[in-house]
Amino acid sequence: MLIIGGDSMIGSVLAATLDQAGTRHWATTRRPAARSPDRPLIDLGSQHWSDLDTIEADAACICAASARLAQCHADPAGTEAVNVTGTLALTRYLLARGTRVIHLSTNQVLDGAIPVAPTERPVAPASVYGRQKAAAEAGLLDLASDGVTILRFAKVFGPEDTLLLGWRRDLLAATPITPFSDMTAAPISAHLAATAILGLANARAAGLFQLSAARDISYAELALALAGRLGADPDLVRPKLAGGPAIVSTPPRYTSLDTSRLTALIGLAAPDPYAVLDLVATPHSVSGIS
Ligand SMILES: NC(=O)c1ccc[n+]([C@@H]2O[C@H](COP(=O)([O-])OP(=O)(O)OC[C@H]3O[C@@H](n4cnc5c(N)ncnc54)[C@H](OP(=O)(O)O)[C@@H]3O)[C@@H](O)[C@H]2O)c1
Repeated sequence: MLIIGGDSMIGSVLAATLDQAGTRHWATTRRPAARSPDRPLIDLGSQHWSDLDTIEADAACICAASARLAQCHADPAGTEAVNVTGTLALTRYLLARGTRVIHLSTNQVLDGAIPVAPTERPVAPASVYGRQKAAAEAGLLDLASDGVTILRFAKVFGPEDTLLLGWRRDLLAATPITPFSDMTAAPISAHLAATAILGLANARAAGLFQLSAARDISYAELALALAGRLGADPDLVRPKLAGGPAIVSTPPRYTSLDTSRLTALIGLAAPDPYAVLDLVATPHSVSGIS
């Protein structure tokens, strides 16, 4: 497998998963100092693919992106060159070489008006990031190739997630935390995301798939559950409303996605949203040391 964007949060967990499975893989970087035979240099913005010319991969997963709402809002043209133009050009190059392409997309292509949104729901993005990811999806589907798979996630937490680790650190130090009460998530772990990517690669299934937790919860509910797991005082969790300069579009009411197509194909079901807390606290932890 070829991972485009090996330094991304999801790409690095995918690489570790492939390492454990003993699967041959390459993981691209855009950092010249990190370049090596197993780390081809690829910048989606520059559209030079020569480092990939000798690589024979069955499947590629495109994890590289300008993946932050604020970044896309601040630089629509620069991020479109990465998220849309570069992504589509690289996909055409890979398909011509006989490499299947798995592209990672997001719930942000939808309007968030209903929970557990079906794959058939028309896109209606509310942010620059969402519009770019929707344009990439449309461009990929227009290729009408049975070598293209799109996998949408909602929130994905990695093993080093600074929000969850920061909450854990503060709760254990009896320091109050202020999670958003009006922002929802249907989170999964990056490990589960990697499992889904590998399952789709092995199944060689084309088309649109989705994976999120089974339902939405607020960040405040997630933080309260973490306090419970750690045996911390629940009064340390002081919910507040989302706002401030980091919020560039109104958060969607619902983020959860219908996972049933993925479940039918590879048997992977939408998890409980609180399962992501296993990343930072075991379910029965009372001392906070896990
Ligand atoms: N994380 C989530 O919650 C989530 C949810 C839904 C969908 N997704 C999608 O999943 C994918 C991976 O997300 P992530 O959170 O793992 O991403 P991430 O951690 O933000 O990493 C993005 C990566 O893209 C690389 N990159 C940026 N511009 C590039 C360019 N011009 N050429 C080549 N590489 C470039 C960055 O390289 P540097 O490290 O060198 O800066 C970085 O490693 C994205 O498509 C994202 O939209 C993520």
